[in-house]
Amino acid sequence: MKLLVTGGAGFIGANFVHATVRERPDVDVVVLDKLTYAGDRATLEAVADRITFVEGDCADTALVSQLVGDLAAGGEDAAVVHFAAESHNDNSLSDPWPFVQTNLLGTYALLEAVRAHGVRYHHVSTDEVYGDLPLADPADDPARERFTADTPYNPSSPYSATKAGSDLLVRAWARSFGIRATISNCSNNYGPWQHVEKFIPRQITNILDGVRPKVYGAGTNVRDWIHVDDHNRAVWAVLGRGRVGQTYLIGADGEANNLRVVRALLEIAGQDADAYDLVSDRPGHDLRYAIDASLLREELGWRPLHSDLESGLKATFDWYRDNEAWWRPRKAATEAKYAQLGR
Ligand code: NAD
Ligand code: TYD
Repeated sequence: MKLLVTGGAGFIGANFVHATVRERPDVDVVVLDKLTYAGDRATLEAVADRITFVEGDCADTALVSQLVGDLAAGGEDAAVVHFAAESHNDNSLSDPWPFVQTNLLGTYALLEAVRAHGVRYHHVSTDEVYGDLPLADPADDPARERFTADTPYNPSSPYSATKAGSDLLVRAWARSFGIRATISNCSNNYGPWQHVEKFIPRQITNILDGVRPKVYGAGTNVRDWIHVDDHNRAVWAVLGRGRVGQTYLIGADGEANNLRVVRALLEIAGQDADAYDLVSDRPGHDLRYAIDASLLREELGWRPLHSDLESGLKATFDWYRDNEAWWRPRKAATEAKYAQLGR
């Protein structure tokens, strides 16, 4: 099998490439990545001689058409897995343009290429396209509302709006042009190689630097955490056995509010669980995300392997402690951006 993986030098895409090389040696992997501030070739160093790396923009229609054409020439068993995106809400609030460019025009370029060459396409998306849910505690309210594939789209930020737009392009290309596409909408991921701008790595690296974690607002916002390897195993399940035209939601029943996560990280570091700072809130901050993944579980038999959030956080904390050389070069510039926002 031949795969074109866009955004393979970013957090989830790189974990996908590592897992694919490790577990599916029969798959030929080509990575297309623009190497924005969020992409890093060092992340793929250990697999560099097992993959083909192309530095380029997924919105470059000529390049994308050539790469997808080469893929198609290799035979029937070829697919594009599209991870590349501008992915950080806070950045989208400061400067939405790269989000429109990559998330919308990049997806358009890939859809036109898979249409022209008849190649299978999997679109990696987020639960944030559905907007947010009212706060609710799983322990008190087992029947609380969660997102399903039928939840209406209602995005809040330029990030989630452009991801929502990209999903709708995929649906239109599937219906009108018959491309063989699937979509997955996953909840918040954590694990190795996540950029230090994101919540969990930012707080871990702050703690390692002796800086108090910074929690937006009152810290009561809820995210439905999933380990990146569980997300990627679900992507493989959808790619291999998913129904063409179907959307699958991916989540591991990992709802936790931000205070619980920060307190757990401080405890892992052997510090006072209250040694964090509440800082000004993100504008438009979504309250709660929660996924009902029953279609994925029942139809494709997928189950998460990392079901205990605290032990996943401990492993992730240890990874950042042991891999400072990877994250250190990005830490100061990231914190300088947050300082400008007062967060
Ligand atoms: P990331 O920001 O860590 O990585 C994005 C990668 O895409 C980087 O390597 C970057 O260089 C590359 N890229 C950006 N613009 C590009 C372009 N125009 N052409 C080619 N490459 C480009 O993002 P991530 O967290 O790994 O997210 C990957 C995908 O998963 C995104 O589509 C995101 O919407 C989705 N997703 C993320 C999460 C999460 O919790 N991080 C959850 C659900 C879905
Ligand atoms: P983030 O990792 O940016 O993901 P998303 O916005 O896609 O959910 O943020 C996760 C949660 O953590 C979100 O509620 C915002 C909050 N947050 C903080 O409280 N402090 C921070 O420094 C960051 C980056 C995020």
